Amino acid sequence: MSNIPQIEREVDKIAEMIKDSQYLVVFTGAGISTESGLSDFRGKDGIWTRKEKGLPPKHGKHFDDVKPNKAHYAIKELQDMKLMKYLISQNVDNLHIESGIDSSLISELHGNYKLMKCMDCDTRFTRVELKWDRDIHGRGFRTEPQQANHPVCLECGGRIISAVVNFNDPMPEKEMKMSKKHAAKCDLMLVIGSSLSVQPASNFPRKAKKNGAKLIIINIDATPQDDLADIRVAHKAGKILPYIIEKLKKIL
Ligand code: APR
Ligand code: ZN
Repeated sequence: MSNIPQIEREVDKIAEMIKDSQYLVVFTGAGISTESGLSDFRGKDGIWTRKEKGLPPKHGKHFDDVKPNKAHYAIKELQDMKLMKYLISQNVDNLHIESGIDSSLISELHGNYKLMKCMDCDTRFTRVELKWDRDIHGRGFRTEPQQANHPVCLECGGRIISAVVNFNDPMPEKEMKMSKKHAAKCDLMLVIGSSLSVQPASNFPRKAKKNGAKLIIINIDATPQDDLADIRVAHKAGKILPYIIEKLKKIL
């Protein structure tokens, strides 16, 4: 039995797979942001996990109070090393953008809490641009009635709503189209911090694998697609990803 620690063997294998890939697509979920202080949904202390036990969400930080963590910056490095071709994220916390991911290289499938969007022309705005004050205008969810004092689209005068995609909201067209395009081209998909339990997002890794891509899953808890993975590790993303970047810099 080799005496190399298991994590080193896993890091070596993952780094080799990334080095050998021609078209790496990264897919992230709430688990990549827990080391920034945000709760995930279905992890051991997740929002839904606790709700099922009749517990309130763990006292976590608010989106406005958190910063990207080492895992986000490791993905930024994959971008800067031109190894990552595209990033599909389910997160609305804006931490990938804040870590320096180019907005042309990411689809935020469930939207972004910092943005509002026009229901007619789909243009995105920050709340500052719109002068949208949540204390006066509310959260602006699609399911809440439009108010007479709501700011309207600066482009076409259409109704403005939150850019967060809530359950039962339609998926954002552009983000889905771009994700489908890049997932179909990828030869390696790297899943980080997702329980892969919400469709249609969770279809992307499965489809990529079916399309002949290799699949890596970095996730603490088991996922329904672990049996499809070429390698699956249960380390914290903020711990293993910097190791993988360090290894890549040695072997490239
Ligand atoms: N490193 C690696 N994995 C982690 C870490 C970490 N530091 N922290 C948590 N995880 C894992 C958990 O084990 C869990 O399986 O991340 C996974 C997060 O899964 P979910 O909480 O289900 O989050 P996600 O997959 O993004 O949920 C998808 O569900 O509620 C909706 O719209 C919401 O976008 C969300 C969607
Ligand atoms: Zn508009």
